Amino acid sequence: MINPITSLLLRNYKILTLTHKQAKLKDLSSFMLQHDTEEELKKRLFELRDAFGIQELLYLSTCNRVLFFLNHSANLDQDFLSNFCQSIQADLSDEDLQSLVSNVQVLEGDKALMHLLEVSASIDSMVVGEREILRQLKEAYTRCQVWGLTGDHIRLAMKTTIEAAKEVYAKTRIGEKPISIVSLAIKQLLKAEVPKKARILLVGAGQTNTLVAKFLKKHSYKNVVVFNRSIDKAEKLVSLLGAEKAATLDQLANYKDHFDVMITCTGHTQSWIDPALFQQLLQEETEQKVVIDLAVPNNLTEEVRSQFDLQYIEVEALRQLASENIAFRQREVTQAKELLEQQLLSFHQLFQMRSIERAMHQVPQEIKAIKSHAMNQVFKKELADLAPESRQLLERMMDYMERRCISVPMVAAKRLVE
Ligand SMILES: NC(=O)c1ccc[n+]([C@@H]2O[C@H](COP(=O)([O-])OP(=O)(O)OC[C@H]3O[C@@H](n4cnc5c(N)ncnc54)[C@H](OP(=O)(O)O)[C@@H]3O)[C@@H](O)[C@H]2O)c1
Repeated sequence: MINPITSLLLRNYKILTLTHKQAKLKDLSSFMLQHDTEEELKKRLFELRDAFGIQELLYLSTCNRVLFFLNHSANLDQDFLSNFCQSIQADLSDEDLQSLVSNVQVLEGDKALMHLLEVSASIDSMVVGEREILRQLKEAYTRCQVWGLTGDHIRLAMKTTIEAAKEVYAKTRIGEKPISIVSLAIKQLLKAEVPKKARILLVGAGQTNTLVAKFLKKHSYKNVVVFNRSIDKAEKLVSLLGAEKAATLDQLANYKDHFDVMITCTGHTQSWIDPALFQQLLQEETEQKVVIDLAVPNNLTEEVRSQFDLQYIEVEALRQLASENIAFRQREVTQAKELLEQQLLSFHQLFQMRSIERAMHQVPQEIKAIKSHAMNQVFKKELADLAPESRQLLERMMDYMERRCISVPMVAAKRLVE
C-alpha cells in the first residue's frame, strides 16, 4: 500500500513531457531545447533552471519524447506551464503555444515517478521493449549530473529507475523478438529492392546510424560514404562497414559523386537538409532517390520532401509497423507494471530513509558539541578535581554514551520506516 504521507513528501518530483502519444514525432521539436552544441544546451538548461527557480533538473530528448524531470517545490499551474513552454520556444505563435500547452503532460509525485519508471522500462515507448531508451535516459542523467543540474533527489529516483528497468527486462519477455526503428527502416530498404551496389550516403555517425551500419554490413551494402560532424566517428563506421570514404558534414555540400540512397540521422534540433543542398547532391540526376530519415525532427525540410521525387522513409511512418511488434509485447506490459508498482513502493521506503538521514546528519555534531560543552564548561571544575584514572574512565564512558546516543534515533527511525 502506498503511504499517503510519503506520497506527500514526493510531490516535489515533477515531470513535464511531450511524447509520441500526445504529438506527431515532427511536433516534438516544439518542446525541445534548440541548440547546436553541448555548451549551448548546458547554457539553456541553466537559464531555465534559474528563471523558474528549479532545484534539480534532468532533460531527456529522444525520438519518442521530450521530458523535463524536476525536483521543484512550486506549483506547476497553467501560468507556469505557459511561461515554461514560452521559454523553450520564444517564437511560437499564440495558437501554437496554446496547442503546446494543452499537449504537454504535467505529472507530480507518484504519477511522475511511475511515468519515469515506465519510460525507463520502455513501456511508454513507441516500440515497447526497446532497450535504447534506458541508455538514453542514463546518458541524459549523467550529462545533467556532470553539469551540476541534478542533486540528491534525482540521484535517488534515477537509482530506482535504472534498477526497475533492469528488473523488467530480466523478469518479463518485454524485450523478446527485438525490433527497433532501425531494423524496421532496413526492412523497408530491403522491400524497396535497393541493389547491393547502390551508392549510399550515411549522414551522421551516432548510436542510431551505427546500428544502421551494422545492418548494412549484414545485408552486404558496402558502397557507402559516411558524413559526420566529427570525422573520427565517421571513420569508425567506414572501417566497420569496410566502406570507401569518411568525410565531415561540412564537406557534404561539395559532394559530387552522386547517390541512390541517403540514410540520415543527426541530432540537429531543426531540419537542415534544404532544397539547395539536396539539389547540389543530386547534381543533374533525376531518378527517384530513397531517403531514410531517422532523425527527430526530420533532417530533411518539408520543402525537400515536397519538391523532389523521393521514396521517403521516416520514423513517423515506421510507427505503424511498430504496432505489429507491440501486440506480442503488450501481453508482458501488465506483468511489467506490477513489478514497477513494487519498485515504487520500495522507492517510498528508500526516500523516507534518505529523508531521515538528511534530517539526522546534524545529530552527531550536536551530540559532540553537548559533550564538549559539558566537559569543558559545565563540569570543568569537578573534572579537574578528579584523579587521572577516574577522569579517564569518565571520558571513556562519555565517548561510549556519545556513540550510543548517535545510533539511538537512527535505529528508532529505521524501525518506523520498516
Ligand atoms: N536512438 C534511437 O533509437 C533513435 C531512433 C530513431 C531516431 N532517433 C533520432 O536520431 C537522432 C540521433 O540519435 P542518436 O541516438 O544517433 O544520437 P547520438 O548517438 O547522440 O548521435 C548524434 C549524431 O548527430 C550528430 N550531431 C548532433 N548534433 C549535431 C549538430 N548540431 N550538428 C551536426 N551534427 C550533430 C553527432 O555528431 P558527432 O558525432 O560529431 O557528435 C552524431 O553523429 C535524433 O534525432 C534521435 O531522436 C534515435
